[in-house]
Amino acid sequence: MNKEVLISTAEKMMSKPKGILAMDESSPTCAKRFAALDIPDSEDNRRRYRELIVTTPNLSNYISGAILFDETFHQKMSSGEYFREYLKENDILPGIKVDTGAKDFSNHIDEKITEGLDGLRDRLINYMSLGAKFCKWRAVITISSNIPSEACILSNCNSLARYASLCQENNLVPIVEPEVLINGSHSIEDCDSITRKTLKCLFEQLDLMNIFLPGTILKPSMVISGDKNSSRADFHKVATMTIDCLKSVCPKDLGGIAFLSGGQSDEEATQHLSLMNKEYTDLPWRVTFSYARAIQQSALNTWRGDDANTSRAQDILSNRAKLCSEASIGN
Ligand code: G3H
Repeated sequence: MNKEVLISTAEKMMSKPKGILAMDESSPTCAKRFAALDIPDSEDNRRRYRELIVTTPNLSNYISGAILFDETFHQKMSSGEYFREYLKENDILPGIKVDTGAKDFSNHIDEKITEGLDGLRDRLINYMSLGAKFCKWRAVITISSNIPSEACILSNCNSLARYASLCQENNLVPIVEPEVLINGSHSIEDCDSITRKTLKCLFEQLDLMNIFLPGTILKPSMVISGDKNSSRADFHKVATMTIDCLKSVCPKDLGGIAFLSGGQSDEEATQHLSLMNKEYTDLPWRVTFSYARAIQQSALNTWRGDDANTSRAQDILSNRAKLCSEASIGN
């Protein structure tokens, strides 16, 4: 592990006023998003869509790094250049999602465990040799009656820590993403308590595996009411409770925090981030975004697979990225 390399990458990922673009939807997830808009699901359409994203003018003013899916990482653009090379030339660090997905957790109904540790060391060596600078692993925690179980939280956090250890062995900054899902009718207080429990367990596991925190980025969900809750907490309460939670559980030497949007609307995800940065100016770490849907969805809705819409879709994407960037500095 080269700590200087890890710190330098983490600092670049967290540089102001930027955030990270998550464009690492797996092929099945991409297929679902395309199907909703009647875009045929094909490798070429995924490439066209990803090309629209990365060639958006001025993207690097707002985006420091982009998380790619394996297919995109090895794919060439229409110019014949690899996506990963194009990003690097355009001052955006290429990153890679390395988990192989959240699968049913044996003996635990309605819970998931993220897989992908088998063979991970060799995959990381290969990604690193091809220019990847950071990685992502997402675990999901579901809130419902009697879940999450201790077993689900502990197993997922243990896997996140083992993944982080392999990343750092190869000088790749790990993004550790324990997503407490928004789906459900739970209150913001329930979300707060489960998020605290999960993050506490995560940092214990990271500590156990000697993870170098300044070279690690946390990608958490916000503390927020369930999407089916009938009296959802307002923007201010979400921002305040999220920061209180992070302050109480995240070590000060963590490399940075970059939120997922997790099914919030574009506007919600941007407002929440903006409030956090406006009202808390003395946090020990940078707090920014690593959104997928909250940056991409309106652009995808406009593109719909038609080249005639590319330029309009890029304007929309650029505007969303700009608003998120502004929010990351409290504007
Ligand atoms: O793993 C999830 C993505 O990296 C973030 O996606 O912003 O749509 O929740 P999202």
